[in-house]
Amino acid sequence: MMNVVLVGCGAMSKAWLDAAREIPEIAVVGLVDLDADRAKGRAREYELNGVAIGTNLDAVLDLTKPRAVFDVVVPAARREVAFSALAHHCHLLTEKPLADSPENARAIVERARQAGRVHAVVQNRRYVANVRRIRRFIVSGAIGAPTSIHADFFVAPHFGGFREEMRHVLLLDMAIHTFDAARYMVNGDPSRVFCLEWEPVNSWYRQGSSATAVFDFGDGKVFTYRGSWCADGFRTSWEAGWRIVGERGSLLWDGFDGLKAEAARPKREGLFDRLEAIEVPPLDESDGIGGHLGVIRDFVRAVENGTEPETRGADNIKSLGMVFAAIESAETGRRVDIPAETARP
Ligand SMILES: NC(=O)c1ccc[n+]([C@@H]2O[C@H](COP(=O)([O-])OP(=O)(O)OC[C@H]3O[C@@H](n4cnc5c(N)ncnc54)[C@H](O)[C@@H]3O)[C@@H](O)[C@H]2O)c1
Repeated sequence: MMNVVLVGCGAMSKAWLDAAREIPEIAVVGLVDLDADRAKGRAREYELNGVAIGTNLDAVLDLTKPRAVFDVVVPAARREVAFSALAHHCHLLTEKPLADSPENARAIVERARQAGRVHAVVQNRRYVANVRRIRRFIVSGAIGAPTSIHADFFVAPHFGGFREEMRHVLLLDMAIHTFDAARYMVNGDPSRVFCLEWEPVNSWYRQGSSATAVFDFGDGKVFTYRGSWCADGFRTSWEAGWRIVGERGSLLWDGFDGLKAEAARPKREGLFDRLEAIEVPPLDESDGIGGHLGVIRDFVRAVENGTEPETRGADNIKSLGMVFAAIESAETGRRVDIPAETARP
């Protein structure tokens, strides 16, 4: 059994507790929130009778001595929670984003390394079937090496709460998923970025609801991102809509079930190569899927087997490095190098 304390009993904790009850190895032994009523409410809802409830993580960890901490707090509290968990020799699975600043991200990853604990991030949108299929398809070379990757994200939610108050909200709280998916799909890391943020006149966010960014992945490969959390009409999927152009063809994914590809055949007809629809193979049985459930299962496996989880902090910091470089570019109006240190394993 893996005894776990979950900290942060807000909206997202439901997804974690739903997943946790599907995994027989997990026993939730404590719930922590600054607002004790929220923790008590979750305990009632999930029939977690007799678990420790508290407003202070250290105190609950002292009492329950769990093997792992599930961190579902707001990004601004992530460092404090991570340090507390690691000081108690707990393995740590944390919501995205891994941290709210580059300094805090490095400090958390380094602290986890020193402590010798498994540290992973819920980058759950990797665990989407079509994201897995796209990666395999691109790596197979069916349309040649990718030359450009394009993602469009236009959704207009009224969350209320911390998102409407935080700066760089789209880049930090949402684009991390899309940036991580781009790295994963084409199996590469970008070296620099230019980014522009803007605030539509009707924006209900404090800052950074909308952004466009161009990343240089090297070897003649570019990733463009256009996104807004303040764009009513023709909503895209939360996964974004994608076009990947390769040397010999292209792939389109609408972010839902629409996934298709076509490849150029040697015979040219007039100005254009002849194109043929090609199948994107189905999911491989070894591909991890299932969103939060998939990530949490991998984390439990990693703790039990001493292996590295796919979304380990030491790798996820590279996706977060894209976010922080994009933020710096938006703030300075300059193209920004993505520091090599964020790409260190
Ligand atoms: N992976 C995803 O798809 C996904 C989706 C939504 C949110 N998230 C992430 O989940 C995290 C939480 O988001 P949410 O929507 O649940 O926020 P929320 O505001 O609903 O809940 C956060 C909770 O954390 C508590 N909290 C804050 N600081 C704390 C501390 N130091 N100790 C104990 N409790 C503390 C708050 O009281 C609150 O109840 C964020 O990082 C967010 O980006 C991820």
